[in-house]
Amino acid sequence: MQILAVSGSLREASFNTSLLREAVEAAPDGVELELWEGIGDLPLYDEDLEADVPESVRRLREDWAAADAILFATPEYNGSVPGGLKNAIDWASRPHIFRPDGAGAVSSHKLEAVLRDKPVAVVGTSTGQFGALWAQQDLKRILGIAGARVVGTEIPVARAHERFDANGRLLDGEVFAQLRLHLTTLASEAVAAPERVAA
Ligand code: FNR
Repeated sequence: MQILAVSGSLREASFNTSLLREAVEAAPDGVELELWEGIGDLPLYDEDLEADVPESVRRLREDWAAADAILFATPEYNGSVPGGLKNAIDWASRPHIFRPDGAGAVSSHKLEAVLRDKPVAVVGTSTGQFGALWAQQDLKRILGIAGARVVGTEIPVARAHERFDANGRLLDGEVFAQLRLHLTTLASEAVAAPERVAA
């Protein structure tokens, strides 16, 4: 099973990207987690671009569509998700990709957004006391509105600057165990997702 890991932070030394690198290590057997970068390449959402979307948007849609599930890590910017992450979700929420229908018939395709029915989960960390909890709650709400199947609860990792070592490794075994459990739940939801059952 292939799960994409998408960080909402663009900065090189991001704690959220570090959290996802830990999730790569924490993935249970049979689950391959791959970091996906590309949020910073996307233009601001503009419906006029839908007629012939830029390559960066095409890549987003193809990669996210091909994944069995997606794990998002979000920082908190002013109490919510960073604009870049919201922008990526807006692009992924629009119906401009063809997929086989539930029966897998090649001749019968429907136009569908890549997030529709996609199993997704969220984690997040911030330097504040609440570990990007509001951002994670908003992210789950936004993903749900976009049609994704949101799995599990938030995993708020507070005071990020005290939770990772200089190499970006988690100092906290409990968070590592939470990541593993989270991924196990996400993977089992992906197996149970209707399109997987039908395939
Ligand atoms: C922040 N930060 C922050 N933290 C928080 O807990 N709640 C908040 O509302 C905000 N707001 C906020 C706005 C902006 C514009 C920035 C740049 C930062 C601090 C934030 O948690 C910290 O910079 C994290 O380190 C960001 O995550 P990454 O980049 O390390 O993954």
